[in-house]
Amino acid sequence: MAETLRLESWSTAREALRHRDLRQGLYDEGRALMDGVIVNLHGAPHTERRRLENRLFRRDTFAYWERELIPTLLEESLATHRGDGADVDIVPVVRHAMLRLAASVAGLDIGSDTADFLRLAGLMTRLAAASTVVHATGDKSAIVADGLAALDEVRSTYLAPAWARRESLIREIRAERRPESDLPRDILTVLLAAREEHGMPTDVIEREVAYFPWVGSHSTSVALVHALHHCFEHDAERPGTLQTLVSEPDTLQRFVHESLRLHPASPQSVRCAVAHGQLPTGDRFAAGDTIVIDMVAANRDTSVFGDDADTFDPMRTVIDGAAPWGLTFGSGFHACLGQELAGGLPPGQSDGDRLLGAITVMISSLLAKGARRSSLYPPVRDERTTRPTWRTYHVVFDQQGNPR
Ligand code: HEM
Repeated sequence: MAETLRLESWSTAREALRHRDLRQGLYDEGRALMDGVIVNLHGAPHTERRRLENRLFRRDTFAYWERELIPTLLEESLATHRGDGADVDIVPVVRHAMLRLAASVAGLDIGSDTADFLRLAGLMTRLAAASTVVHATGDKSAIVADGLAALDEVRSTYLAPAWARRESLIREIRAERRPESDLPRDILTVLLAAREEHGMPTDVIEREVAYFPWVGSHSTSVALVHALHHCFEHDAERPGTLQTLVSEPDTLQRFVHESLRLHPASPQSVRCAVAHGQLPTGDRFAAGDTIVIDMVAANRDTSVFGDDADTFDPMRTVIDGAAPWGLTFGSGFHACLGQELAGGLPPGQSDGDRLLGAITVMISSLLAKGARRSSLYPPVRDERTTRPTWRTYHVVFDQQGNPR
């Protein structure tokens, strides 16, 4: 009979994430939306897909986005969501700023019509809920059915025109009527251009392109709000912290990495054994077994992160070979493609541009405008999922734009 193995230590968790005989198992309940999507592929098909898409995730592009694009997207999103009152819920502000970026990485052409964009954002929320239905607290079959209806709408309204435009560009380039540089750099284009060679069915391309906008925006915005919360808490205990964080981006990035460690996007990773095997730590598994990796426990393993691993200490040091964010971006062949975009790299780890990451860049911008927690609308936890996230988090801005 198939068994379930639970892993809690950092080293077993890491080895399991990297084990070639363990396939992705987190999206089995949401397979109607996730079948054939990169994070759900295994073995050679996964390696091939990753090789195709990896070329879009370049450090020089991320550096440009950090400098030029992300601050502008944040400003635009703030302008959309700021009403007449002093308060603004920062969750949709950040989610939508990242959604514009992630939608363009995916290859959806979003114009300047705000209503059209907000409609896409609503569809992405439904897709995210259905794809991660394993963690839902509500009626799971209704959530999946709703996700499939949202995918239909994404397909007809956003994907179809983007698809037609790219196919026509690819035809013209192949006929040498246009230079190759006219091609957009996005997932949809890469997949359409490689389609014949890799025999990729239409529905797989559709699901893959629909995956990127929500995975890029939801995980980043959830992580950002957790980190912002820690900044406010720290400031309450040590007044003056917020000023320091505005003037010291390296320190702010440490806050972000420490928060990422304490709050992995998914509290558990799940893998299914495709063959009999063993982890280097001695744990054995048989084909068909389920491996549940407790990411929260692994990221608080005292042998790696110290005796006070449960507490928030942005200045902590970790053992060689471990990242300050723990396993929050995964490890091995499924490791997050957007890791450096969202989290940057610690000082000294990138050869060229210093990458702070979208989360640090956006928090820095918000704090520089004097963002602080609203006393009128306290933050509210999201009870619709077992993933610990904030449903709303209202902030106000200091009139002068100065941090307190
Ligand atoms: C704080 C933000 C983020 C967190 C915490 C996060 C976390 C993760 C984790 C844990 C995985 C591995 C899943 C597994 O092993 O089962 C993953 C995979 C992935 N992430 Fe992220 N992610 C973030 C942001 C992003 C962004 C911004 C993008 C793209 C725009 C992105 C794209 C992907 C993709 C494509 C994969 C699948 C890679 C593969 O299977 O080869 N992520 N992410």
